[in-house]
Amino acid sequence: MQHLIQVIKQKKELKDISDDFVKDHLIKYQTKHNIKILPTNPKSKDFKIIVKDIRAELRKVYGLFRNKDNAKLRNELIQQPNQKNIHLQILQTHASTKERLPFYKDLYTEIFKITKKPKTILDLGCGINPFSIPFMKIKPIYHAYDINEEEITNINQYFQKNNIKGKAELLDISKTTKLKLLPKSDLAFLFKVSAILDQGKGHKKTEEVIDATPAKYVVVSFPTLTMSGKPMTAPRRSWMEWLCKRRNWDYNIIEFKNEIYYVLKK
Ligand SMILES: C[S@@+](CC[C@H](N)C(=O)[O-])C[C@H]1O[C@@H](n2cnc3c(N)ncnc32)[C@H](O)[C@@H]1O
Repeated sequence: MQHLIQVIKQKKELKDISDDFVKDHLIKYQTKHNIKILPTNPKSKDFKIIVKDIRAELRKVYGLFRNKDNAKLRNELIQQPNQKNIHLQILQTHASTKERLPFYKDLYTEIFKITKKPKTILDLGCGINPFSIPFMKIKPIYHAYDINEEEITNINQYFQKNNIKGKAELLDISKTTKLKLLPKSDLAFLFKVSAILDQGKGHKKTEEVIDATPAKYVVVSFPTLTMSGKPMTAPRRSWMEWLCKRRNWDYNIIEFKNEIYYVLKK
């Protein structure tokens, strides 16, 4: 299996995914297609089909968000001796965080008005959002999780250089048994990951993940612009509101130009 994993990862855009994440996809694939023994010969038809199918799945859940050159640039910025304001340059290198630059400060002010200033934060499917900590104007202990090895390394280096307490770790956040074991925190972020978790199959996974997250407050965010950049006609996620009512979770909505945030209290 290890060989298959390495072959699957031999694509620029997939190379930084954690081995465990690829392995899980392989195991699911094996069960789904009732494959007793995985092929080992890279030249065989079966081997090639599996590589192709798993790569396609990974690209769907993961590859879309990657931009190699930008990851390299982020790493170069982190190595700079003068760290002042490098977070601003880093946040500009990813679409989701770049869009938030005009309102990051207000976003955290609004969130903390509801949750009070947190001492500990979990950032699930964090991407490069941890570089926005300077906008919080507080010094929380920050635990960040993602499946991207390179980003996790970058964040840890940044934390060390800038005396930010906390750590970034590789974790597939869809694994709720592991989620439950994360450090108990005041607040958790699930920014723009719900659709990735649900994969167009209802919203059960998002519910499970919110449920398993060991934090009293969970902020779940969604884009409010369409792929072509036009504002959505219905930016609110009514399913989210029904879910909160069904589960008896209080919620507040914070809305900015490109993104809507549900602040849930469990
Ligand atoms: C659209 S980006 C959002 C990043 C960040 N939350 C933000 O809004 O700035 C999605 C992120 O989720 C990560 N991701 C996707 N599936 C994941 C999983 N199962 N477990 C952990 N992270 C995951 C991706 O690597 C990517 O960094």
